[in-house]
Amino acid sequence: MIPSVAAAVSLLEGMMEVLSSAVKLETSSPQLAELYQYLCLAAPFGTPNETNPSNLKFQIQFRKGLAMPKEKIPSWRPAVYKGSSKLNVRIKEEVRAVQYDKEDIEDICQLYGSVLCKAELEGHPDIVLNLTTPPDSSHLDHLTVHSCVQSSDAEPVLADTTNRHTDTPHYSRSVRFSAPLETFTLCHYQQSPALIPIRGFYQMKGDRTIELLVQLKLHETIRNNFEYCEVVIPFFNRGTIEKIDNISPTSVSLCIGPDNKSLVWNIGQKFPVKSLEVSLSVTVTFTEFPSEEEEERDKTVDAKFCVEQNSYCELNFKISDFTLSGCQIDPRSITLFPSIKYKLTLGRELVSSGYRIWNSHGDALGIPFIRNEPVEEIIN
Ligand SMILES: *[C@@H]1O[C@H](CO)[C@@H](O)[C@H](O)[C@H]1NC(C)=O
Ligand SMILES: *[C@@H]1O[C@H](CO)[C@@H](O)[C@H](O)[C@H]1NC(C)=O
Ligand SMILES: *[C@@H]1O[C@H](CO)[C@@H](O)[C@H](O)[C@H]1NC(C)=O
Repeated sequence: MIPSVAAAVSLLEGMMEVLSSAVKLETSSPQLAELYQYLCLAAPFGTPNETNPSNLKFQIQFRKGLAMPKEKIPSWRPAVYKGSSKLNVRIKEEVRAVQYDKEDIEDICQLYGSVLCKAELEGHPDIVLNLTTPPDSSHLDHLTVHSCVQSSDAEPVLADTTNRHTDTPHYSRSVRFSAPLETFTLCHYQQSPALIPIRGFYQMKGDRTIELLVQLKLHETIRNNFEYCEVVIPFFNRGTIEKIDNISPTSVSLCIGPDNKSLVWNIGQKFPVKSLEVSLSVTVTFTEFPSEEEEERDKTVDAKFCVEQNSYCELNFKISDFTLSGCQIDPRSITLFPSIKYKLTLGRELVSSGYRIWNSHGDALGIPFIRNEPVEEIIN
């Protein structure tokens, strides 16, 4: 809603993109030099101007001594598109969750959505499209739009479906923009709390030999068709796995992770259609407790915290052609000015990111990551 906020977010994203190739930042690293060059171009007088690194890229390369393109073209549109016109709009949602199985602590579930767009359109028309959400889902919060957006509805509008019998009611938010040539994020949104798509329980007890039980239930509104769905159960401060037995049910696909310190349970493409429930119980025996040297080496927050009964399992899954928020791009709403012929591709996906279930018998950590930074908030 506030253009300066969108511009600031775009600048931060640009900085992240420039730095993303950095493996390890040192004060003398080439990435920092590149970041400096980027900031000189993107915010020349301390005010964000053109912030898309790809649009600025040739200038950065030019400064490094690479050849400048022959044609003089504006920096905000590095090339003119020629060829058959295509428009690709994809909604990607990431769901994070922390489940505790504790009476006095509420589980956490947060959704981060982004709309990615690639527009290869001859004549560079303006694009208008509607982002729709069902009325029963909670609103999309913190909607931020890319700086190329010219206008967008501040509040979603309830669609009038009285004379369209096939339509279910939904909220619609119209966005008008002039797209750069490369893939960019048209907007971001959040939903918190979001619906917990897979509810889980994890129970684990023991020392050198442990017994564990994991139970999962898929919510009935979630598309039961996964690209992948697996549970990783890491063991910290316990040495390596010697053997696993008493696997139940015997049909589960369970293996020991490549580090010999975790279990990987592959659930596959579907939960059982009737019950939508799966479970796993297994006995794990460890060779020995880790040497002090080994403990010394692993200093991650998880490794420090996960002693004795403190432990978690993590779900990794992806569902295509689905969003948890119900967010969609309405294909009928897409309009180009001036109008041209083009091929439209729409996509949706939901992926998990830091989706954890803590052992009912131990202590737990709060939100595991904020943009991959561990946060040390301990909950008993
Ligand atoms: C801001 O960006 C435009 C192109 O988007 C460019 O022509 C102009 O020179 C830039 N302004 C400054 C102060 O660099
Ligand atoms: C894991 O265990 C297997 C079999 O005992 C062994 O071949 C492999 O080298 C071990 N991997 C690691 C990373 O220790
Ligand atoms: C797109 O959203 C606007 C509200 O901003 C609404 O008036 C319009 O009817 C919607 N278009 C379609 C095709 O639903």
